Amino acid sequence: MSNIHRLASLLRFRKQHSHRPIRPVGAVALAFAATGTIAMMLAMMTTPPLAQAAETNTPVGKLLAMDRPLVIAHRGYSALAPENTLPSFRYALTAAVDFVELDYYHSRDGVPVVLHDPTLDRTTDARKRWGGSNHLVSAKSLAELQTLDAGAWFSSTFAGTKLLRLEEALDFIQREGLTLIECKGGEAAACVQLLRNKHLVNHVMVQSFDWDYLREFHRLAPEQVLGALGPPSKHADGRKLTAAERQLSAAWLDRARDTGAQVIVWSSQINKEAVIAAHERGLKVWVYTIDDPAAATKLLDLGVDGIISNNPAIIWKALATRRSPRL
Ligand code: G3P
Ligand code: CA
Repeated sequence: MSNIHRLASLLRFRKQHSHRPIRPVGAVALAFAATGTIAMMLAMMTTPPLAQAAETNTPVGKLLAMDRPLVIAHRGYSALAPENTLPSFRYALTAAVDFVELDYYHSRDGVPVVLHDPTLDRTTDARKRWGGSNHLVSAKSLAELQTLDAGAWFSSTFAGTKLLRLEEALDFIQREGLTLIECKGGEAAACVQLLRNKHLVNHVMVQSFDWDYLREFHRLAPEQVLGALGPPSKHADGRKLTAAERQLSAAWLDRARDTGAQVIVWSSQINKEAVIAAHERGLKVWVYTIDDPAAATKLLDLGVDGIISNNPAIIWKALATRRSPRL
């Protein structure tokens, strides 16, 4: 048995046997049970409304209801293989992650294609093929995109790896796992249509930094679990956010919940108060992109519900070896 297969067996065992005590679900329910109607009314005046709970009879709902933090592979297992490609997704599935994250844009002819950057330059041979620079994904047809090499930049081992249509990536990942789709470009309606056609609503999760996209997605498919990514790089008027503004706060949580999202997906600029405030609102908290064991342990101790990593084995190990209980 190869090392990677041994690791996968160990990780599958941990997924099946890792449990922690169930926590109360919200101050409103507790107030009602303990002290009756008057206390309930008081609690409603002071407790933020809860986000809509995920249906627990769907694959995504079941995962979100699990009694342990989730492990999410960022752009696949991108520490080991070229990001957002089939080899990267294959390694992530072997590592038994809870979600395989990917990014997509639309090609010039409107086909969702899996890639992180708006341009092809960093992760394909576009510059070598076509000369010049700043080759936008959205300026190329699917046929043109399919001629590119998306693996050689990472290592010659992966030379010949092709860009994937979103649909191809979903077909591959969903056979064994669940996908966390991040929209980087394109209309919500197109993604809703794709998920409905493939019967994948709540068999995948959808996230975006574009909260207008989330609002529109929620309007079209209110049952789909969504993740609100933040912080944004700038304000609507173009100003950069200050360090304080980048911290996860009650104001961000309220705005995220208003999009219809059930998960807030933030950078590591969070603290314990923010995690508690999110949970009070019925929001799960996931953090990106964490590849350091000490940072992972610290976040787990804050009570986060999921960690997104380029190297998910590090997160599994942090989960398996940390001693502090959750909140
Ligand atoms: O899933 C979180 C993360 O993917 C967001 O950042 O830029 O890597 O897509 P980015
Ligand atoms: Ca992403």
